[in-house]
Amino acid sequence: MDANTTLISRINNREAVIGIVGLGYVGLPLMLRYTAAGFRVLGLDVDAHKVDMLNDGMSYIEHISADSITQACQAGFRATLDFSRVAECDALILCVPTPLNEYREPDISYVTNTADAIAPYLRPGQVVSLESTTYPGTTDEEIIPRIIHQGLTVGKDVFVLYSPEREDPGNKHFDTQTIPKVVGGATKACLEVGIALYQVAIDRVVPVSSTKAAELTKLLENIHRAVNIGLVNEMKIVADKMGIDIFEVVDAAATKPFGFTPYYPGPGLGGHCIPIDPFYLTWKARAYGLHTRFIELSGEINQGMPEYVVSKLVDGLNDHGKALKNSKVLVLGIAYKKNIDDMRESPALEIIKLIRERGALAAYSDPHIPAFHGHGVYDFVMDSVALTADAIAGYDALVLATDHDRFDYGLIAENARMVVDSRGRYREDMGNLIKA
Ligand SMILES: NC(=O)c1ccc[n+]([C@@H]2O[C@H](COP(=O)([O-])OP(=O)(O)OC[C@H]3O[C@@H](n4cnc5c(N)ncnc54)[C@H](O)[C@@H]3O)[C@@H](O)[C@H]2O)c1
Repeated sequence: MDANTTLISRINNREAVIGIVGLGYVGLPLMLRYTAAGFRVLGLDVDAHKVDMLNDGMSYIEHISADSITQACQAGFRATLDFSRVAECDALILCVPTPLNEYREPDISYVTNTADAIAPYLRPGQVVSLESTTYPGTTDEEIIPRIIHQGLTVGKDVFVLYSPEREDPGNKHFDTQTIPKVVGGATKACLEVGIALYQVAIDRVVPVSSTKAAELTKLLENIHRAVNIGLVNEMKIVADKMGIDIFEVVDAAATKPFGFTPYYPGPGLGGHCIPIDPFYLTWKARAYGLHTRFIELSGEINQGMPEYVVSKLVDGLNDHGKALKNSKVLVLGIAYKKNIDDMRESPALEIIKLIRERGALAAYSDPHIPAFHGHGVYDFVMDSVALTADAIAGYDALVLATDHDRFDYGLIAENARMVVDSRGRYREDMGNLIKA
């Protein structure tokens, strides 16, 4: 029997062992999904602390319960640092980070390190699927050569895929199983294996003709968001100058039953994806002599939003005869979006940095992040302030950066001297509101 036929039948019979490499926001939910679908899953990571926690049935991500990890362990899941165990796996799904470097260029070292780490242990009859968000060509240029180097033929011995991850942490309407999964194969046989691999765990698999098409699909989705958020952020600044409430306008426009998708303005872009992924395409497009102007422009607008929020804070304090210097400012929410505990690239951190640089006494409150121990250029250390009436009244201004549901908005409105709202949470002016 051909290697692909054998592999597909092992997948369909739930005999295949699924190796998930990189057990973070993407890898862990995928591990849980395959475990729930009846597979034995082996998790591989380079972080010993995470591996120990998982093997002890604990979670390090707020929205993934320890109970779910314990149940997965009972069903046979184990995490390991030992990459020689790659040989035990039928499928290897790579979910490692793809950040930007200090020059805002793609840093695919995690992907190449992972490919180098698994390559010596690959054997005929396995499928390797890259899920990390990346530029078109990564699978062909960085994964396949490392496999060929081991003397294996792609599409005959080993099957190679790219399948972008669409995980949306905290989304109550869609989860790993119900979010359709795009998959592209390096060859026709690879794609057949890819469809088999994902359709046992995901309700709808969407095949595309190549790994490059799948890579660009993910970037298009995130560029679409980045550009539209940039557009609505620019509209917010224009509307504000004209004395119009942008949130009212977006809500009204959203009643159009066709041809309009609502995007809401905010204090800027955050998270591991939307502020970063578009620049993967910008970098690659340069090799083709092309400039990605929409990406650059929306990036510029979105990156300027924390400064805009701070300028509204400065104006508000000024109206009260106060300077930002030495004012006490409490930033509400430092996660990059509501109801989660992830603060990577969060614009709230940039706001705190900016107001500290101008001499304000900055603090934060976030029910999802009890302490902040510094992160990249944001080298400050703080504990979250408990939101009592007295604590709120003690600040010259509160800046609402992330509108978590767990905030008591009535308590905030009643006790704050000034609320600078960058999320449109407060629609009615209560005397102390500044829309930012
Ligand atoms: N977080 C999201 O919501 C999301 C959504 C869609 C796509 N993505 C993409 O998925 C990828 C992973 O993102 P994430 O948020 O899960 O990252 P993460 O930082 O939460 O997790 C990555 C994991 O990979 C591990 N790792 C790093 N180097 C490794 C190596 N050489 N070998 C094995 N493990 C290694 C890390 O220790 C960590 O546990 C990125 O490309 C990201 O852009 C993320």
